[in-house]
Amino acid sequence: MLLLIKINTYSSSDLSSKQSDTIDYTNIPKKNIGNHSPLYPTPTTVVGTTVNDTINWIAIAHIGNIGFDCLLLSMHKSHHSNQGIIKNGTLSVNMVSEAMMIPADYVGMNSGKDVDKSEVFDYFEGTLQNAPMIKASPIAMECEVIDLYETEHHDNFIVKVVNTYVSETVLDENEKIDFNKVKPLLFEMPNKGYYKVGERVGDAWKEGNKYQ
Ligand SMILES: Cc1cc2nc3c(=O)[nH]c(=O)nc-3n(C[C@H](O)[C@H](O)[C@H](O)COP(=O)(O)O)c2cc1C
Repeated sequence: MLLLIKINTYSSSDLSSKQSDTIDYTNIPKKNIGNHSPLYPTPTTVVGTTVNDTINWIAIAHIGNIGFDCLLLSMHKSHHSNQGIIKNGTLSVNMVSEAMMIPADYVGMNSGKDVDKSEVFDYFEGTLQNAPMIKASPIAMECEVIDLYETEHHDNFIVKVVNTYVSETVLDENEKIDFNKVKPLLFEMPNKGYYKVGERVGDAWKEGNKYQ
């Protein structure tokens, strides 16, 4: 029996040759599919809060950076969690790793109005009240609500990250987060799928130097 083993050993100098695999869409006709936001994949997070003295966890993937220390969370007004966040003015944002997919999906499928989700995750506390953080998450942030931008169906919370707790094993020697080790779980809406992060294909703020 012939056994073929392929070992991928890409160095950063190989990255530019990999770009030849990418598709150029210039000559492919575009179809207008209406007013759907296509900005996926996004990282999957679990937001922790307290509602009526009970811890509640909710999956949130409509999340984004604002500057370097604030986040935007877009949360449907019908959610149980919103009540606690509006009352407390605090919450936690926990990055979901691939290993956390099943409990994270569970807290995104079930409302605290119907089930007690308080024991789904073991938690620890930081400096803020009512911002329980998940022990199993490689990156957990305790946050303060600094603004609320309401749209027809959503409470859009702008939160300031007060402290970020990172599992030591995902930090490199310069204390920077190594996302290959974090293994964040990515989410996309149109087909409701979870994905993992792919390979590094370039160096930001360097690739542009090759532009002619
Ligand atoms: C992967 C995933 C991501 C989600 N992202 C969001 C989101 O960004 N905004 C939102 O309003 N609901 C989102 N949801 C839905 C809520 O997590 C879900 O309705 C949850 O049960 C509400 O919980 P609560 O009522 O206890 O607050 C998501 C669900 C899943 C499974």
